[in-house]
Amino acid sequence: MEKYQITGSQPLTGEIRVAGAKNAALKILAASILSDKICRVSNIPKIEDIKRMAEILEDLGVKMAWGNSTMEIDPAGLKKSSPDWELTKKLRSSIMLAGPLLARFGEVTMSQPGGCIIGQRPIDLFLAGFKTLGAELFEHNESFTLKAKKLKGAKIVLPKISVTVTESLMMTACLAEGLTTIINAAMEPEIPALADYLNNCGAKIKGAGTPWITIEGVDRLSAGEYELIPDRIEAGSFIMLGLATNSQIKVSNCRPEHLETVLAILKNAGANLEIGPDYIATKPSFLRGTEIQTHEYPGFPTDLQAPFTVLMTQAKGRSLIHETIFEGRLFYTDKLTLMGADIIMCDPHRVIVEGGTKLRGKKLESPDLRAGMALIIAGLCAEGETIIDNIYQIERGYAQVVPRLKNIGAKIEKISG
Ligand code: EPU
Repeated sequence: MEKYQITGSQPLTGEIRVAGAKNAALKILAASILSDKICRVSNIPKIEDIKRMAEILEDLGVKMAWGNSTMEIDPAGLKKSSPDWELTKKLRSSIMLAGPLLARFGEVTMSQPGGCIIGQRPIDLFLAGFKTLGAELFEHNESFTLKAKKLKGAKIVLPKISVTVTESLMMTACLAEGLTTIINAAMEPEIPALADYLNNCGAKIKGAGTPWITIEGVDRLSAGEYELIPDRIEAGSFIMLGLATNSQIKVSNCRPEHLETVLAILKNAGANLEIGPDYIATKPSFLRGTEIQTHEYPGFPTDLQAPFTVLMTQAKGRSLIHETIFEGRLFYTDKLTLMGADIIMCDPHRVIVEGGTKLRGKKLESPDLRAGMALIIAGLCAEGETIIDNIYQIERGYAQVVPRLKNIGAKIEKISG
């Protein structure tokens, strides 16, 4: 088992380049099978979740060819409507394949998806949406089957805002007959990114990035080409790393406009940031405790809640962190307490952080992807050595962690044993 060995309290300096967005890439790979023509995606991050999605697609008969940071997907050989059960369980985003397989084959059978353990994460809204588009649902113990000779456009009102449900229904409706409207859609930047890709392939989607999306169904989609947007969560994590270690680093190849709320909150807390057209640079700052609530886009992203909590352990005064999206996404804070942070859990959704504490290196296990990155940041702030285990969880979403962080002066190694 490989681990990260970190020696903290070193000043960081230099430039770190943001990779392509994981949560845009996964959806575009799934959407590629809506067509039988080749799709080329550039700026693709070489991360474990993308490798798992590629394995599922290959098992379905799709040919995948990796370039340096490009991927060519040839779905001409797509041969079955049931993705491999074991592979599906490794990746929550495998649920994104349900709609395209249903649209292409008129039926799909899938096991329940797996993924990060950050709450209950049901799939009821996906299934309800497919039923509204005319599919018949058969539920089994740990799997489901959907059947529809031809999907029919419909009005879908989402009772709850969900990123992947919006994306899944938007892509599926591209091959439905007639007009679909999605009301109360999520607005995360990955959604217009997916719509841009699909529209490039001949889809007719309007309104992606707003709560009202309309999709006029087409008979088929053609070949597509797409360059992925930069990963806003990776960018935000690196900014918090720079601030937490009081360092001057330049986070390049990012889109500051995707992080408006985060940047405003950081500035209010005292962060000294230089914001350019495609970069954000951190400077030594005097940070004050602050209050945040995670929220759907354009609010403060739940995926940056853990790195922000680590940052607040280094700020002066008290912070309140309110996680509103997932009920299991604050439990990593007990690991920060082990490192010397002063954190009180009020309930599963809220913690209070008394800032200004020195962190000490510890042996820890990464509980999930985003909390794992937060532990790396904590380790790089802490005095002494931190060992982080279960790094597969981190490498699911962050590429080349060790070389990229070493490049800005971090003392981090991958060790075995
Ligand atoms: N929900 C339901 N029923 C459903 C689907 C979702 O009740 O059928 C609930 C969820 O349990 C949650 C809420 O809806 O309480 C909102 O979750 P959402 O569906 O928006 O989350 P998601 O689509 O499963 C995506 C990202 C997550 C990110 C969230 C919120 C991908 C692959 N995942 O998840 O990213 O935290 O949106 O922004 O796009 C990550 O990258 O580490 C990650 C977890």
